[in-house]
Amino acid sequence: MLSSHDLKLAAARAAIDLIEPYLLPGVVIGVGTGSTADLFIDGLGVHQDRFRGAVASSERSAARLRGHGIEVLDLNAVDAMPVYVDGADEINAKLQMIKGGGGALTREKIVASVAERFICIADESKLVAQLGSFPLPVEVIPMACAAVARALARLGGKPVLRAGFVTDNGNEILDVSGLGILDACLLESTINNLPGVVTNGLFALRPADVALLATQNGVRRL
Ligand code: 5RP
Repeated sequence: MLSSHDLKLAAARAAIDLIEPYLLPGVVIGVGTGSTADLFIDGLGVHQDRFRGAVASSERSAARLRGHGIEVLDLNAVDAMPVYVDGADEINAKLQMIKGGGGALTREKIVASVAERFICIADESKLVAQLGSFPLPVEVIPMACAAVARALARLGGKPVLRAGFVTDNGNEILDVSGLGILDACLLESTINNLPGVVTNGLFALRPADVALLATQNGVRRL
């Protein structure tokens, strides 16, 4: 019986195999955040001399990349990125995701938006029929926190401030449970349009292109 860690490692290794053809001089890889992304970074470290470097979606991932001798580039210095590899808190059959359990959702969405392909790596427990059991993270400018919380409650959610947590951008996170997410694209746009919201953890307007989901019987590709 493979452990949760073993499954994450299998997904991370499958992603390394998938992106290996892109690991060429001059190429920059987009890298996500979380325990699965950490294992992907460790796998990337073995190949650090084959590509130019990486753009990280968090200070945590940047530090881990540097620890492997991988150059971390500012996104403003990068014109193109063939792939972005990251985990997810939930993913559905359309490859729409909830992300941001680690609080890095805004930078994740920005880096992913520049990449040609989003590769999601996760264990199969993250695959759901309907998004929303995992509370949706919403990054909020601190002065707007109460106003945004009231607006999210009007949308049917139960927002809870992630206590003692500040994002890499200096903002707060509201974790919103109870949202019946039937139309993920509509909800993503609606929440993003609330004044004071930086972004929310729905990745539906721009879903993943490939999901590598580790199971007890091997890695499943969606
Ligand atoms: C961080 C994220 C992560 O991808 C998500 O929380 C999954 O993390 P893990 O790989 O540790 O399960 O969105 O903001």
